[in-house]
Amino acid sequence: MIPLVKSTFYKEKETKKSLNAFILKSEKLSFGVECEKFEKSFAKWQRRKNAVFVNSGSSANLALIQSLLNLGKLKKGDTVAFSSLTWSTNAMPLIQMDLRPVPVDVELETLNISSETLLRALKSSKVKALFITNLLGFCGDLDEIKKICRRYKIILLEDNCESLGTVYKGKKLGNFGMASTFSFYVGHHMSTIEGGMICTDDEKLADMLRLVRAHGWDRNLEFSKQDKIRKKFKVNSTFYSRYTFYDLGYNLRPTEINGFLGNNQLNYIEEIIKKRNENFLKISEKIYDNPNYYPLNMKHIDLVSNFAIPIVCKTKKIRDALVAKCEGKIEIRPIVAGNITTQPFYKKYIKTKYKILNANTVHSQGLYIGNNPELTQKDISIYLDLLLQ
Ligand SMILES: Cc1ncc(COP(=O)(O)O)c(C=O)c1O
Repeated sequence: MIPLVKSTFYKEKETKKSLNAFILKSEKLSFGVECEKFEKSFAKWQRRKNAVFVNSGSSANLALIQSLLNLGKLKKGDTVAFSSLTWSTNAMPLIQMDLRPVPVDVELETLNISSETLLRALKSSKVKALFITNLLGFCGDLDEIKKICRRYKIILLEDNCESLGTVYKGKKLGNFGMASTFSFYVGHHMSTIEGGMICTDDEKLADMLRLVRAHGWDRNLEFSKQDKIRKKFKVNSTFYSRYTFYDLGYNLRPTEINGFLGNNQLNYIEEIIKKRNENFLKISEKIYDNPNYYPLNMKHIDLVSNFAIPIVCKTKKIRDALVAKCEGKIEIRPIVAGNITTQPFYKKYIKTKYKILNANTVHSQGLYIGNNPELTQKDISIYLDLLLQ
């Protein structure tokens, strides 16, 4: 059986050994220098000014939406558009924070929203922000989407938890909007076991994210910024300054274990992306022109970086037959969470209905297989034998 995920870390044995040594020698394992070092290195790698490390991709999404509310860039009741084909915790913070979520359908040929599906959604809603999901290493015409956002004064946010390393029009995904979120959960592009990041070039947003990440206090701000906020709120005594809470927050801090792993795995990120991309190309060139499946258009993408390979069958019957064939041989699963508006949590809280056709098709006729750096030539042959029967 080929599993979806083969390891917790890239170079698993060495990584576990060095993690062991790190824990033994460390006096402090709560948030500290390793986490801060990882933030700096990740920001540099991603080419963004700020990176704020949190304990999961879901926390990254939660912190981002909370921070935009704290800063007044979003207000309760504002409409936020989002990709209908996404993960639960992309849409959940919108509901949790009393925003009005408006799903945007995806294109079958990219699995992502496009300027066309966005424009269609904008006809019926006045949208304040777009929380786009770059699904499984792919994207739509993001440059056009960005232009539309600029034209309509829509804040563009990218959930890039599934597309770290993908390059579109010469730029890494995650660099098209005001901020972007990442996940370092096991099986994603790189793992810190659990972990997430928010990247932004906006200094005020980065500071608010640091506040939201840790209780609403200012301890992770630079000294000059602590000084400023303390003066603003007339917090004059050091006795109280460490226990003053300036805005709504959570505790979403990662640990030094996660920070250490981030620094360790980031050393291999280019190697990881390259291996996955090579696997993907070997498989995709054979499967996407098969008449049983919808072709995926990735001509507009310079480099696809994914951790799974999606297949959308032309009919449900073909998909069900494929599921049966994979039984006991290849681990498979539905494509992300399908049309998220059909999930029980969504229907419980949001009563407005939108016509979402393609995300439904992806859910009822799709599946995905794993793509990891440890895939062997034999695994790829098994994939192709089964998928092309
Ligand atoms: C698009 C998307 N957003 C957010 C998340 C949440 O990330 P995490 O599992 O690190 O909480 C995921 C998880 O797979 C995801 O696919």
